[in-house]
Amino acid sequence: MRKVAIIGAGMTKFGEEWGRGFRDLIIEAGKASLEDAKLQGEEIEALFVGTMASGSLIGQEHTGALIADFMGLTPIPSTRVEAACASGGVALRQGFMAVASGMHDIVAVGGVEKMTDVDGGNVALALGGAGDQEWELFTGATFPGIYAMMARRHMLEYGTTEEQLASVAVKNHKNASMNKYAQFQNEITIDTVLKSKQVASPLKVFDCSPVTDGAAAVILCPLDKAQKYCEKPVEIIASAQASDTLALHGRRSLSSIYATQVAAKNAYAMAKLQPKDIQVAEVHDCFTIAEIMAIEDLGFFASGKGGKATEEGKTALNSDISINTSGGLKGCGHPVGATGVKQAVEIAWQLRGSAGARQAKDAQIGLTHNVGGSGATAVVHIYKKAF
Ligand code: COA
Repeated sequence: MRKVAIIGAGMTKFGEEWGRGFRDLIIEAGKASLEDAKLQGEEIEALFVGTMASGSLIGQEHTGALIADFMGLTPIPSTRVEAACASGGVALRQGFMAVASGMHDIVAVGGVEKMTDVDGGNVALALGGAGDQEWELFTGATFPGIYAMMARRHMLEYGTTEEQLASVAVKNHKNASMNKYAQFQNEITIDTVLKSKQVASPLKVFDCSPVTDGAAAVILCPLDKAQKYCEKPVEIIASAQASDTLALHGRRSLSSIYATQVAAKNAYAMAKLQPKDIQVAEVHDCFTIAEIMAIEDLGFFASGKGGKATEEGKTALNSDISINTSGGLKGCGHPVGATGVKQAVEIAWQLRGSAGARQAKDAQIGLTHNVGGSGATAVVHIYKKAF
């Protein structure tokens, strides 16, 4: 297997982007990543794009070929990857495997979602398809409701509090306030979260990631050719993915995500590293409880200790471990198919030392963690500074 590096990274501003459509977003992110790698486009041999719900959200399927067309990349093979909110992370893994295997040298990986062209009810229906349609969505369980059940279970088992959940949102909004690409660039307080309107108790509006438009892209190539394109390549040293039941009721635990635990274990083994070696991580905080479970399942904190650790500031920028420096899904936004690729963009910027005010000091090793649905898919990648 060949070693693989990121040689280009780019993204659009995340938010309610009324003036731009699906195509505009992915073209902007794609061009930014090509410019970053000092490539014109003709060098790209294959394209993988994460998109979760373009059919329901904009009435457009067959987006792999569509994006190759509008990026001027035809006739190269272009593949749409769908794994709910983990579509971007799984697309990255496909690109990684294509380069690692020797099948292709230079590969582009993108992620894109245009979510604000339909009303909130239709967004909830489209997102609900990431769960079990027959057992969950049909009976009215949307994603805030499903994660609320997980939060209740975590509170019951470990005494996690609503203030601890709120402290995830406060930290991530603070990080997002230093990120010009973020949807929400305003700091908030614990009170803002606790007094925001109920969505599915105990989760309130500020415990939820928002509905977002946006796109992100990275360019991959073999590590031994990376210096030709990029002064500061970042190596992907591990890629692991795991799956579980779509429906929550089939899981072995409601207060943790088993697929994350399996993907993390395999990624650490592949990288020959341990959780303590990671300095900066982008984790899947689609709801505040999701970040608490993630930092436990990834081994950064013991089970049941994630809420307290967050409340004590141990996951803030330049503390024990810098979690969600981009602002995460909560503060930076969550255009579902784009999120997994945006996480890779943020870690590439962090390891290159180009993250500006939100830079994690001396970051050498980073991790991304992307979840589909309530945990039926989990993808973990580990990255190393390679210059
Ligand atoms: N965090 C902070 N502010 C938010 C927000 C969020 N998650 N969602 C909306 N807002 C803000 C909007 O910016 C807007 O502010 P403004 O009045 O200053 O412009 C205001 O709240 C009202 O926005 P609106 O779109 O009407 O909110 P809503 O009540 O329709 O939607 C949620 C709120 C929480 C239901 C929606 O954001 C949501 O469904 N989030 C979860 C998405 C999801 O499930 N993703 C997949 C995860 S697996």
